[in-house]
Order: sequence, then C-alpha cells, then structure tokens
Amino acid sequence: MPIVHLIHGYLGVGKTTFARRLEREIRAVRFSPDEWLTRLYGDDPPAERFDDFMTRVFDIANEQWRAVVRCGADVILDYGFWTRSWRDAARAGAAELGADVRLYALSCPEELARHRIQERNRNLRGSVFVADATYDALKSRFLPLQADELTGVVHVDTTGAAVRCPE
Ligand SMILES: Nc1ncnc2c1ncn2[C@@H]1O[C@H](COP(=O)(O)OP(=O)(O)OP(=O)(O)O)[C@@H](O)[C@H]1O
Ligand SMILES: [Mg+2]
Repeated sequence: MPIVHLIHGYLGVGKTTFARRLEREIRAVRFSPDEWLTRLYGDDPPAERFDDFMTRVFDIANEQWRAVVRCGADVILDYGFWTRSWRDAARAGAAELGADVRLYALSCPEELARHRIQERNRNLRGSVFVADATYDALKSRFLPLQADELTGVVHVDTTGAAVRCPE
C-alpha cells in the first residue's frame, strides 16, 4: 500500500531539507511547490499575485501526487499543512486512493528558523524569499496539530544540524 508522507511545520523549520533527505532514503516522489513556484514565477513574486500563483501550482501538484499514488508509489508532500482542513483533505485524498498516511511534524526554535531563513534569503536556490515581516504576518495562519491528530505522528526536531529520517 503506498504511503502519502505529509510534511507539517511553520516557515523555515527545515521541511524541504527533510523532504529531500526522505526522498533520498525511500522510494518516493517529492512535491515541493515552492520549487515549482520559483521556476515559474521567480523567487519573490509580488504579494498580490502570490496566492493566485500558489493555487495554480497546487492544482497541478495535487493532480500529480494522486496520479503517482495510483501507480503504486509513495509521495512526499512538502506542503507545510498549516490548517486542520488542509491536513484533513490530504488524509481523505489518501484514503480515497487506498493509501496510508504518515505525518511528520517538524519544529525548531523560532530564533533558529528566522536565522535560517535570513541565511537562505541570500542564496535561495529554489526557495521563496521570506522577509522577517512575512514570517510574523503569516503566523496567524498556522494551526498546530490538534490533540486528536497526534496518533502516529513522527516528531522531528530540526535543531541539530544532522536530522535523520525516522524509520
Ligand atoms: N537540520 C538542519 N540543520 C541545519 N540547517 C538546516 C537544517 N534544516 C534546514 N536547514 C537550513 O535552513 C534553511 C531553511 O530550511 P528549509 O528550506 O528546508 O525550510 P522550510 O521549512 O522548507 O522553509 P519554508 O517554510 O520557507 O519552505 C535552509 O537554508 C536549510 O539549508
Ligand atoms: Mg520549504
């Protein structure tokens, strides 16, 4: 049974780094929408167009990960999954396809995430530019996992430089 790996966490906690590592360690196709967005629209699209661009990217990504799962392969969704409804939709989508779900909750101290983003902003290589003000402004959109979502969650603290993928 294919597994849909969901990567959850706020900005800069190391989701894409972790997803890339997971992709190297298991047989899975990784979907990191930021990489698609930056290739299509640049690494700092205008704020007023951002949601529209992201919606287009997600429309394609969501079709494609389902197609991959139908072929029997695992997928890694490096989406962040900031809301309950987003997570529920992914779980329902996987269930419809008869796939299992594994949810990874990534975290690190805020200061570290901010520092990493500032460093990354200097050499984006497929990441989106995130201003300090954006980090603050988007916080209210992030809803941590709720109590009934915690069963089976793989918690990954990315504070240490070498984050290993759990079995
Ligand atoms: N475990 C780690 N140790 C050291 N540096 C890390 C670690 N994880 C990520 N980084 C670095 O921190 C920066 C942010 O990581 P990454 O891009 O993976 O975060 P993200 O959660 O995907 O961010 P975003 O929410 O913007 O997509 C990158 O420059 C990355 O190289
Ligand atoms: Mg990322």
